[in-house]
Parts: sequence; C-alpha cells; structure tokens
Amino acid sequence: MPRFYVTTPIYYVNDVPHVGHAYATVNADALARWHRLLGDDVFFLTGTDEHGVKVAQSAEEHGSDPPAWTERTSGRFVDAWKALEVSNDDFIRTSEPRHHRAVQAFLQRIYDNGFIETGTYSGWYCVGCEAYKDESELLEGHVCAEHHRPAQWLEEENYFFKLSAFQDRLVEWYESNPEAVRPEGKRNEALAFIKGGLHDISITRTSTRWGVEVPWDPAHVFYVWYDALVNYITAIGFGEDEARFEGWWPAVHHLIGKEILRFHCVWWPAMCMAAGIEPPAHVFVHGWLLVGGSRLSKTRIRQAAEAAEAAVGPAGDAGEGGGKPVKLTEITPAALTDDFGVDAIRYHLLRDTPLGTDGEFSYEGITARYNADLANNLGNLVSRVATVVGSKCGGVGPAPDAASRLGPESAAVVARAVAAWDRLAPHEALEATWHLIRETNAELEATEPWKADPGPVVDGVLGSALEALRIVAVLASPAMPGVCGEIWRRLGLPGRPDEVVVPEALAWGGYPGGMPVEKGAPLFPRRRA
Ligand code: MSP
Repeated sequence: MPRFYVTTPIYYVNDVPHVGHAYATVNADALARWHRLLGDDVFFLTGTDEHGVKVAQSAEEHGSDPPAWTERTSGRFVDAWKALEVSNDDFIRTSEPRHHRAVQAFLQRIYDNGFIETGTYSGWYCVGCEAYKDESELLEGHVCAEHHRPAQWLEEENYFFKLSAFQDRLVEWYESNPEAVRPEGKRNEALAFIKGGLHDISITRTSTRWGVEVPWDPAHVFYVWYDALVNYITAIGFGEDEARFEGWWPAVHHLIGKEILRFHCVWWPAMCMAAGIEPPAHVFVHGWLLVGGSRLSKTRIRQAAEAAEAAVGPAGDAGEGGGKPVKLTEITPAALTDDFGVDAIRYHLLRDTPLGTDGEFSYEGITARYNADLANNLGNLVSRVATVVGSKCGGVGPAPDAASRLGPESAAVVARAVAAWDRLAPHEALEATWHLIRETNAELEATEPWKADPGPVVDGVLGSALEALRIVAVLASPAMPGVCGEIWRRLGLPGRPDEVVVPEALAWGGYPGGMPVEKGAPLFPRRRA
C-alpha cells in the first residue's frame, strides 16, 4: 500500500491559533484526506513548538511555569484543529519525553560524527524571532524589523553545527533531486542561499533551562529551532522503532510557510546528512494569508490593537463600527466558523489562496465565495434535485442515464482533480469539481424536469444529477468532510463519501437508484454581501 506522510510546521505556543495557522493546517489536512481516499496509508502530523526563552518568559508573565503554561497554550491548538475537523494522526509537543529522547539521540549522532564543536558566539539576538540577526536585517538602533523591538547583544560560549561542511553536498543533493523543494522558485531560492556560502550555526544555549538538555554537556540546552525540526522524525519512531522510522522516512511531505524556508531547506537536510539519514524528500513552500497587505501574526495583531488603543482610548470602544484593528483581533478560526460554518471556512481557505502564492483575507472575499460556490451552486443543486425527486419520483432517487452528457464531463473532472491534488493544488481540484456542479445545474435548466411529466426521461435526468452529486460529494470531501457526509446521507447512500476508494468509486453509474432522497434544510443559506 502506498504511504503518504505529511506534516505542518509545529506552531509556537505563544501565539493563539489564527486563520494563517488554519490555512496551513487545513491544506495539510485536505492532502491527508485526499490520500486516504486514494487508499494510501497516511500519517498526518502537526503539533506545537514549546521551548525557548520566549515561552519561559511568557509562562512567568502569566504567573505560571513552562510545563503548566505550555500544557494550556498547546491545548488551544488541539482545540482549534478539532473544531476545524482536522484529521491529524498525531499531535507532537516538543516538551514531551519522547521528543527529548529523539533529539538527544539524533544530536548525539551528529556530535559523534564530528559535526558539532565548541565556539564563542556573539551577535544581535531577537527574542521575538528566537534568532541571531545580521546587522543588515535590523532597523536603526538594532531594532528587529519583524517585531519592532530592540535586539540584544549576546555573547555565548556554546556548541556550533558545522553547516559550512555541507555546502557542496547540499548543492549536489538539490541538483540530483529537482523535485525536493516546490514551487521551483523556492527551490532556486534555497539553492542560491546555499551557493552564497554557509556559516556554522550556534545550536545550544545556556540562557534558559527550558529546552532539551545537551546529552554530553547538561549545562546547555539545544536552541529551539535545532530541537523543533527533529519533531518530524520523533513522531515516526526515530531512535526507538527503526522499522517504523524506515517505513515513513524520507518520503515525507513537509508543508511550510515561506519565511521558514532556510530552516527546512538548508539546515534540516544538512542536519539529516550529518546524522547519517536521508534528507526529507519533499518540502512544499506556501505563501501567506495577508490582511490589508500584512501577514497575520500575533505581533501584528498586538501592534494594530495598540495603535487603535492609542488613537481612540481603551480597547472596547475602539471602533464599534468594525475598524480594521478590531477586525484583525477577531480573526480566530473559531470566530470564523461560528459565523460561516466549518465547511465554508475550510473551502474558502483551500479554494481562494493557491498553495505557493500569497492571498488576501477578507470577510468580503469569504462572503463572495460562499454565495457564489456554496449557496448558489452546490447548495442550490442539492435542494433543487431533492425537491424534484420528491415531486416527480415520489422521493425515490432514480438510476443515472448511462448516456448522459454528464458522464464524460464527470470523467474529465475526475481526471483534472486527481492530477491537481497530485500537484498539491487543492484550489484547482476544487475548481474542477465545481465545473461538474455548474454543468449539472446547466443540464437541469436545459431539460427542466420540473415541468415534464414523470417517466423515463425525467428519471434519467434526475438520476444523472444524483450521480453527479455523489461524485461531487467524494471529490469535495477532503475540503468539506461534514457537508459532503450530509449530502451523501441525503442521497440515501450507505456509509460516508470518505470511505470509498478513488478513482474507482468515481466511475459514472455508481449511484444505484431506488434510494430514498431527503430534501432537508438549505445547506448554505445565502448571505448578505
Ligand atoms: N515554530 C516554528 C516552526 C517550527 S517547524 C519545525 C514556527 N512557528 S509559527 O507558529 O510561527 O509558524 C508556523 C507556520 O504557520 C509557518 O509555516 C508560517 O508560515 C505559518 N503561518 C503563520 N502565519 C501565516 C499566515 N498569515 N499565512 C499563512 N501561513 C502562516 O515558525
């Protein structure tokens, strides 16, 4: 059975889950769900990144300690993903003992292989980024451009990873694995960075105890990024269950945002090489969801809230009428799903921002997509077909017409959708699926079964529309598992649309006929624009 291992980055617990995180996680989830439909053995991993100075500080600020604080903050991600029907097979927390053991085993190997040595590090460190910054990356007064806070000058005696030793091997590896980083522009970016020259990196800290202890020198803990990347192999049994590890590695698909490309496409493969394992086979780099042109992040939300407060007084009075900063703070996945429903938000995230590009996030955008694709097209088709089956066929769904023009349309759509998922292009797979919905609506409008007398012609038209809906329910299920399950049930079909195997189950003619069709309430009531 083919295997599909997909990961999201692990999220910093200092952030509250926002719609940008949801974008990344829902895309990984849809890919995992698609591969389960293909019959693959799937392992889908997400989790939280919990170590480092910033988290320890935050625990203290909240009158807590790091274990209790991360238990709570990590739980916010667990809850957010549950509410969004994310089907992860595991949720890794870097504070877990299994992760500490894996990091220690992995890094001990790198140390034994001679790729870690001592040195003194000095530089400008931004606690917000948890990273040393080059002078060129800082604004005047050594202020971090991302966090708008001054960086601190730090000097540390610590351990260095000999990243520079891997420059040639990395270039060679990327040249012989052209598909390792996608889209191609991002692969070129990684290669250019490597060819530009690699410096050794400082990988341990003595400034905090909240981390994974360095096994050969317990006064140090590993630097957060160095520990976080290892999560991808912890969860599949590295160091503890070799057979399991080898079953999943290196054929992984890491889905990452564009700002963490260097960590994943330069450091991580080099770390793997240093430890004597294969680098990850696939890294797919996606863009950002933007609000008014800026990336959505806690820092931005806080800045916006502070700016609003400074302008109009304490929060709460700050723009009842929906001023922009107030809107930003509302963009949690929960606020959106309460408003539009889980399926509609998932659909919007997958349909409107192709993986690989940036996308603008707005309520107007969600509403427009909701009305056009969900209320007017899919919702309308479901209720129209069920109504006419009620009036012309006594509520019993007829079998499809083998010669319907929707048969070849559907075959072409299935082929496009399969190819699009394979290219990690959920937006195209959904676009293809909606073509079938539109064609089915058009076919009903052309034949007007509601005006005709009951009989074989009407049966053929309605049976074909039901069959198209059956196929749509399967194709759209990775995006909208809940609603597709409901459509399936209303068509009178047993089981669930995500229990079938594609593409076999999508051959024209699968709707058996003779099933009770239920009208039900509108799936997507139209919203005011
Ligand atoms: N903890 C590190 C990752 C370690 S992985 C070994 C981290 N965490 S993060 O919480 O800041 O970001 C996690 C992911 O969320 C990144 O891939 C990032 O691109 C993504 N997103 C955060 N904001 C986003 C948007 N506004 N839009 C899309 N994705 C965004 O980095």
